[in-house]
This record gives sequence, C-alpha cells and structure tokens, in this order.
Amino acid sequence: MLGLVPLALAEPLAALPLAAQQRKALQEASARLQFDAPERPEAPKGKRIRLENVDVRWPGATEPTLHDLHLNIEPGMHVAIVGPSGSGKSTLFALLLGFLQPERGIVELPRATWCPQEPMLVSTTVRENLRMSGPHDDEQLRDALRKACLPEWADRLDTVIRPDQVSGGEAQRLALARALLHDADVVLLDEPTAHLDEPTARKLLEQLRQDRRTILHITHRPDEAARADLVLDLGTPAYR
Ligand SMILES: Nc1ncnc2c1ncn2[C@@H]1O[C@H](COP(=O)(O)OP(=O)(O)OP(=O)(O)O)[C@@H](O)[C@H]1O
Ligand SMILES: [Mg+2]
Repeated sequence: MLGLVPLALAEPLAALPLAAQQRKALQEASARLQFDAPERPEAPKGKRIRLENVDVRWPGATEPTLHDLHLNIEPGMHVAIVGPSGSGKSTLFALLLGFLQPERGIVELPRATWCPQEPMLVSTTVRENLRMSGPHDDEQLRDALRKACLPEWADRLDTVIRPDQVSGGEAQRLALARALLHDADVVLLDEPTAHLDEPTARKLLEQLRQDRRTILHITHRPDEAARADLVLDLGTPAYR
C-alpha cells in the first residue's frame, strides 16, 4: 500500500497546477453558461444578420482571416457557406457566435445556436446529452431528434452512450438535435452532413428548412450549395 498510494496519487496531483491556472477562465466561462444569465449588453436586437466591412483576426495572427466581409441575411434564409479548407468558414461562425470580436466593421447579429464541426458528447444518457441545451421535457427532446434525422433514438432517451462508440454521423445528428433545442433565431451548422450518406443528408436539410429559422450551413457538397437561397464563397479573393 505504502508503495502504491504515492504512485496512484501522482496522476491526479499532476493535474492540480493546470487546474489552478485555468480556474479564473473556467469560472468566467461557467458564469456565461448560466441559463438565467442576463442578456449580454452588446447582444443586438432584430433577426437579420448584417456585416459591413468586417475584418476578423484570430488573437496573435499576423493577418486577418476574413477581410472586408459584407453580408445581409434576412430572417428565414438558408445560406450555404463554401470555400476551401482554411478559407475561414468556421472562423465566420466564431464571429457570429461572439467567440471572436470583429477587428473592424459593423456587425448586427441575432441569437444564434451552433452545431460544431467536432461535436462534443458526454458519457451519459441521450437525454442528458440533449438537456445540456436547457431544461427540456422528453417530448421536446424526441421532437428535436426527429428533426435531426435521428428518429430511432427518440425511444432511447435512457440509453447511456459512449462518445467513442457513436458513429460520426450519429454524433453530428445528436449534437444537431441539441443545437435545435436552443431558443435561437439562427442555426449555424458546421458541415452537418460530412458523415452522412446522400439521401439522409438531403432529408436532414429539407427538414431543417421547415423549421423556418435562418440557417447558415457550411458545406463542401456542390449539390447542397445549389439548393440554398444564397451561397457565400469565402474562397473568393475579395475576402482574403
Ligand atoms: N482557434 C484558432 N486560433 C487561431 N487561428 C485559428 C483558429 N481556428 C482557425 N484558425 C485559423 O484561421 C484560418 C481559417 O480556419 P477555419 O477553421 O476558419 O477554416 P475552414 O474554412 O473552416 O476550414 P475547414 O474546411 O478545414 O474546416 C486558418 O488559417 C486557421 O489556422
Ligand atoms: Mg471548419
């Protein structure tokens, strides 16, 4: 015992300095996650998205990732965001979510919800993975799963999932269901169909359009872009 206890303690104790370093940032992040937190004062009113002459730069980067961006999106539009890898598609979402502040320009943003490129799931029940978005009842959770093209999971709210044992497409649709549960005017989808077969991908986007919220949808699939109301190509030289 005397030999084994110090060995067993080494790993948790080694994490303590890092935890202490990150304590303040985590406390601030936790405060922002309170469901009853007051709306941030800079949160804009209105439901359209407007960007004018906007530059976006990641902290420490020598150049802005997005340059002189103009965008006017009316409520209910479905916008496809396209462009090669590294062209700034996810960076645009970071701006729209308020993770990044614009370096220059005017930004008008409604409340947005987000399904990230790498969804984060937790080793717990399907229900608790969905309720990370707020205190919803089971019928609301089932409805979101159906909208996210995961109807067979509507009967499995009590099933405990292991994130590493869920397929990429299932993880994305579960994260999408969670995003849809947020009371937001705009849904930001970062390659939601990347892991889906073509018929499921098509069905998913058709169902999302019935939701009537504004959708911004990053995609590398030309057929999906062709069905959108507007295509924003961040690969064009104007934004570089
Ligand atoms: N968290 C970050 N911190 C600093 N720089 C970043 C960060 N995320 C992205 N970048 C930089 O911003 C640029 C655009 O990246 P972004 O992730 O927006 O590309 P993308 O168009 O979404 O690409 P992909 O199709 O591969 O997802 C890249 O040069 C990248 O290195
Ligand atoms: Mg990306």
